[in-house]
Amino acid sequence: MHSRAFSSSLTRPDGDFAPRHHPGPSRQCRGLRRAPRGASVVASAGVSEVFSQIADGVLAVPPTAFGALGALGLIGAALFVADPEKRRSAQTTSAGGDEKEAVKGYFNSVGFERWNKIYGTTDEISSVQMDIRKGHAVTVDKVLRWITEDGSVKGVSVCDAGCGTGSLSIPLALQGAEVYGSDISSAMADEAARRYEEQSKAEISGRQATPRFEAKDLESLTGSYHTVCCIDVLIHYPPEKMAAMVKHLASLAGDRLILSFAPSTPALLLLKRIGEFFPKGSKATRAYLHKEEAVEAALREAGWKVTKREMTSTRFYYSRLLQAAPATS
Ligand SMILES: C[S@@+](CC[C@H](N)C(=O)[O-])C[C@H]1O[C@@H](n2cnc3c(N)ncnc32)[C@H](O)[C@@H]1O
Repeated sequence: MHSRAFSSSLTRPDGDFAPRHHPGPSRQCRGLRRAPRGASVVASAGVSEVFSQIADGVLAVPPTAFGALGALGLIGAALFVADPEKRRSAQTTSAGGDEKEAVKGYFNSVGFERWNKIYGTTDEISSVQMDIRKGHAVTVDKVLRWITEDGSVKGVSVCDAGCGTGSLSIPLALQGAEVYGSDISSAMADEAARRYEEQSKAEISGRQATPRFEAKDLESLTGSYHTVCCIDVLIHYPPEKMAAMVKHLASLAGDRLILSFAPSTPALLLLKRIGEFFPKGSKATRAYLHKEEAVEAALREAGWKVTKREMTSTRFYYSRLLQAAPATS
């Protein structure tokens, strides 16, 4: 049970663990086991990805390597001395030096396969991925609650920036919101459209509104929406680019902006560093944590104020969620 010792020493379960849209873990996935050969073990690609890097890596390490908690402490200290920048540079270089292209390539290939499974219903995933699925579902539920608590969303325009496989876009569209979902990965955007087709057929109330999905990066988004959401995407933006992106997203929103990001705290920085110890070449992209004060400052500079705040923490998934409104409202 090496991974359990690992997780309990470095993460804190919060018990907030009741997703509505996803099935619970299968018997097989509840048991801890080595990550299957060929599983994408250390790709960094979302808020939760930082932690899956670590956890999948730990599951792939012989149990004896983590026999004692003391050993883990020593490893943690050693990791702080090691510099992961070399490996990061190598990853970007292998994508022609363009970090955004590296992210796009990842989410159109091995990253798509990985996250399509995590955001799906298959039981053929590791216990870590199952934990990430549940954590993400909790975040999505919180966002849906915020958006729907003021009444019907029928006709409300929503931009889901970095929509992935449509975990947020689809339930909103099924309730009648006018959803535009975009993602840098065409594989992700196509899968979101496919899932909507499939799920809307099963709806007794029939189709309310057909969402539009498109392959487009965050920088290229234009238009004006009542609500803009950007969930678990900012991990791909370095801190020096985060503020500009937050301002850009705010410029597209009229009434509400909902953002989530992996918060930069000492404990999570340590976890991230440990995750970086288990490289997997081209399967990995960089992952960035953000200071909550910095995100809030960017919102303030854009003329927005935080109106709601939430944190979702599971063993391997950490996501700070902020809702903002124009400061003048
Ligand atoms: C961890 S997934 C989250 C997906 C979705 N927001 C959700 O919560 O289900 C991160 C997504 O961000 C997308 N992404 C990463 N960088 C992006 C960029 N610069 N522009 C648009 N999408 C991006 C990825 O392709 C991926 O689908």
